[in-house]
Amino acid sequence: MYQLNAEAFNSQEFLTKYWQKKPLLIRQGFKNFQDPISADEIAGLACEEEVESRLVYKTAAQWQAQFGPFDSYQHLGDKDWSLVVQALDHWSEEAAQMIEPFRFIPQWRLDDLMVSFATPGGGVGPHIDWYDVFICQGSGKRHWRVGDKGLHREYAAHPALLHVEPFEAMIDVELAPGDILYIPPGFPHEGITLATSLSFSVGFRAQSAVSLLSGLADHLIDHEQGGELISDPERQVTQHSGAINHADFAKIKQQITSLTQDDDSLRDFIGSFYTQAKHELDLQAHNELIESEHVTCAMTEHNLMRLGGLRAFYFPETLSQGLCYIDGKAVSFPAKISPIVQLMCDQVVVNTEQLEPWLNNNDFIDFITQQLTAGYWYFSDA
Ligand code: SIN
Ligand code: CO
Repeated sequence: MYQLNAEAFNSQEFLTKYWQKKPLLIRQGFKNFQDPISADEIAGLACEEEVESRLVYKTAAQWQAQFGPFDSYQHLGDKDWSLVVQALDHWSEEAAQMIEPFRFIPQWRLDDLMVSFATPGGGVGPHIDWYDVFICQGSGKRHWRVGDKGLHREYAAHPALLHVEPFEAMIDVELAPGDILYIPPGFPHEGITLATSLSFSVGFRAQSAVSLLSGLADHLIDHEQGGELISDPERQVTQHSGAINHADFAKIKQQITSLTQDDDSLRDFIGSFYTQAKHELDLQAHNELIESEHVTCAMTEHNLMRLGGLRAFYFPETLSQGLCYIDGKAVSFPAKISPIVQLMCDQVVVNTEQLEPWLNNNDFIDFITQQLTAGYWYFSDA
């Protein structure tokens, strides 16, 4: 279980002063930090087809990037390279635990947990990210520089590496195990490894209006909505056939804005859109055939676990109507079981004590059997 060190970090103060505003160094944000996963395991994950990974290194001062899966690292030597694995929370239950302390920010803002293994001199180069990130130093040591937001020229150091020109540092520090560096969008930064290192980045994502609109268009097509044509039975004679006059502009605008006016439909889109996983889910990990009789028994002995990276959200309004969103789809359930569905969306682990009141509830057993069969939830081993 990872916990932020209350002496070093206060979540309310952080949100007020730093979140989306300025970078922050949190010395010993995690006390006595232990890596949740080893470098060897990370190297192994990057050999898998379904895991997104990349290697970044330099040859003769020229930046290079290569995308996984990899079958060997032998040729890379023992310095000046780094291996980055995305969505580690999808593949390692232990590593996914690192996200838990950051749940004071709602999950719909979360992107994924990324890890970088880097040998001395290794890093991905100076760059700007357009998302918020908490870079948590695991074993090893890295030198980080963070510059101020502003006009920074970016250039392609390699087709897959967008770098930024040299910048003046407002933070210039060495991170040791347990230290955390928070960087909001738009602040240039660079981490160079001093001693072979693991860094875990808890990243948050924000959607642009254009990606929301494009998602809305897809959603409307899939649900055969929004097909109504403009209609103008009240039309008057025009003297200017080349004009889109004020009344017509208002009518067209109304046709577009009407797509976002109905809150129920909009929630349906937002719930489906925001629960889509950006990276592949490890749905094969727990796909046993589940009999509902076994579920009751398992509930008394095992915690209910949400699959790493699965996104499950609700709106207060939909919860009371018996509707939530799981992995890009609207899911209905009897409204009576909404308290336990709410827990399943709020918490990654629902313990046996929390499950106990629902043991004899057939509606819940049916609901959870479906979710277990889909591989979205599973019972803990212990
Ligand atoms: C890294 O760990 O090397 C990259 C993390 C980042 O800069 O966002
Ligand atoms: Co970055």
